[in-house]
Amino acid sequence: MRLRQPLAHSGVVSTLIHPADAPDAPWWRQAVIYQIYPRSFADADGDGLGDLAGIIGRLPFIAALGVDGIWLSPCYPSPQADAGYDVADYRAVDPRFGSLTDMETLIADAHRLGLKVLLDLVPNHSSDEHAWFVEALAAGPESPQRDRYHFARGRGPDGQEPPNNWVSVFGGPAWTQVEPGWWYLHLFDSRQPDFNWDNEQVRAEFVDVLRFWLDRGVDGFRVDVAHGLIKAEGLPDADPEVIAITPDDPRFDASIPMPCWDQDGVHEVYRGWRAVLDQYDVQEACGGRILCAEAWVEPLERAVSYVRPDEMHQAFAFPFLEAPWRAVDVRAVIESMLRGYGSVGAPVTWVLSNHDVVRHATRLGYPPAPVRPNSGIRPQDPQPDAALGLRRARAASALMLALPGSAYLYQGEELGLPEHTTLPPEVRQDPVWLRTRGESVGRDGCRVPLPWSGDAPGLGFSPTGATWLPQPDTYAALAADRQDGVPGSTLELYRTMLGWRRAAGLGRGSLAWLAHYPPGSEVLAFENAPDGGTPTVCLTNVGPTPVPRPDGELILATDELAPDGSVPTDVTVWVRADLG
Ligand code: NOJ
Repeated sequence: MRLRQPLAHSGVVSTLIHPADAPDAPWWRQAVIYQIYPRSFADADGDGLGDLAGIIGRLPFIAALGVDGIWLSPCYPSPQADAGYDVADYRAVDPRFGSLTDMETLIADAHRLGLKVLLDLVPNHSSDEHAWFVEALAAGPESPQRDRYHFARGRGPDGQEPPNNWVSVFGGPAWTQVEPGWWYLHLFDSRQPDFNWDNEQVRAEFVDVLRFWLDRGVDGFRVDVAHGLIKAEGLPDADPEVIAITPDDPRFDASIPMPCWDQDGVHEVYRGWRAVLDQYDVQEACGGRILCAEAWVEPLERAVSYVRPDEMHQAFAFPFLEAPWRAVDVRAVIESMLRGYGSVGAPVTWVLSNHDVVRHATRLGYPPAPVRPNSGIRPQDPQPDAALGLRRARAASALMLALPGSAYLYQGEELGLPEHTTLPPEVRQDPVWLRTRGESVGRDGCRVPLPWSGDAPGLGFSPTGATWLPQPDTYAALAADRQDGVPGSTLELYRTMLGWRRAAGLGRGSLAWLAHYPPGSEVLAFENAPDGGTPTVCLTNVGPTPVPRPDGELILATDELAPDGSVPTDVTVWVRADLG
């Protein structure tokens, strides 16, 4: 890390919050990764469900966007009870998506285009159709086969009550009875039994799975529910008042310790996996294979323990995604993430959207509120202001992509896609919706098939026009072909942002707030000065009145500037600072 004094702007020296990386920092400290949700990305065989051939055909589009890699949500064999996060076989590809050969082709093609490939690893639970769970059911109580999962005797007379009071993240109890008195644990759907990570076979199996895919050339893994693997000894009851509060309840507080989440024992697992990945680095000297934690953990000190030097490389900074669109909140979260991740020497992994949360072009179309973003929207709910949401989403994405660290994009955000907020109940498929009987609306609205051509049936998602979820009318105008080459379109904005970010080295850069716009002003303004790169000022105006544009050559503005060149409300500009 180098300490470079920030530039002075308008005669006011700025405050350095985060130093730049060295120019030869590993790729993953600064990478932009594009998340592909395979069932909704592109469908080549016309059955309405996306597939690997569809992805392979669109890899040039992704490479041309200017990202560094892709993360594929699961495409392993699966009954699809949770859209593939219920894995029946960790070493194969579901025929719905293609074959292992297709996956090998995808990896090779991506590498030829300069894209890294991350797979989704789902180690907390398997599908109930996984061979081990099928064997466990057949083998009966207290068998070694059952020890690979959490089977337990129920409470009460004849064990008719669940073994403890834990609840499923998807609603209802976290236990299902298999025969009189015997239950198994599932922190998610009942078709997703939790593995017992105290069992040595489970540990050995996942090391082998890692090697299976690393040997096929994948560059790493996004690790699903990384904070869930280890449960407190003896599976004790949780505090009944705390466990009753669901994540979409404003009283929800993720920092209260729970016996089912964020147990210290998870770190030993990840230290072991890191050693496996590091062996590949030694063999190949490519500095390259990585682990990225999906861990909804608070407080920050505990969250960043997943990215200590001998554990994972990246962990999503979810508080950034949850921050209300107010300068004071966004500024505070940026600063605390940079300091928190920096305290363990890790880059921040920024993210605004994924397949579990309401798309940010829709979230930001509501008045700012400290809500948890994963509760979905129904036709009868208040609808967002779509134009405002898109304007703010473009400003927020430009802010994110100017920050030092890594960033993940979710397919379709480069088109400015909103959530589908009016999906009819009968098409919904999320187990959250099904398990809560519609009380929680679930995540289908952010998983709608992508629009590739505005005039084609199914908006070009599949050759037959079939789509596994209906697309909203608004998607036609946002289709990729309608935006391609159109100045000012969201697609062209993303291409410009990613191009400049890479050329200037912003991902490995620094962050210094410009003192000219102090905390409390409704402006977020910072300089990012990469060592040996091009210093860039990023300014986002979150306040009601236009503010003067910083000096220097304008690289981009996320919407039109005022006639006098000042920056209006909900607009971000990037300015080349060394020419100021
Ligand atoms: C997190 C994944 O992102 C989500 O889609 C899934 O439902 C749960 N983990 C359970 O695997």
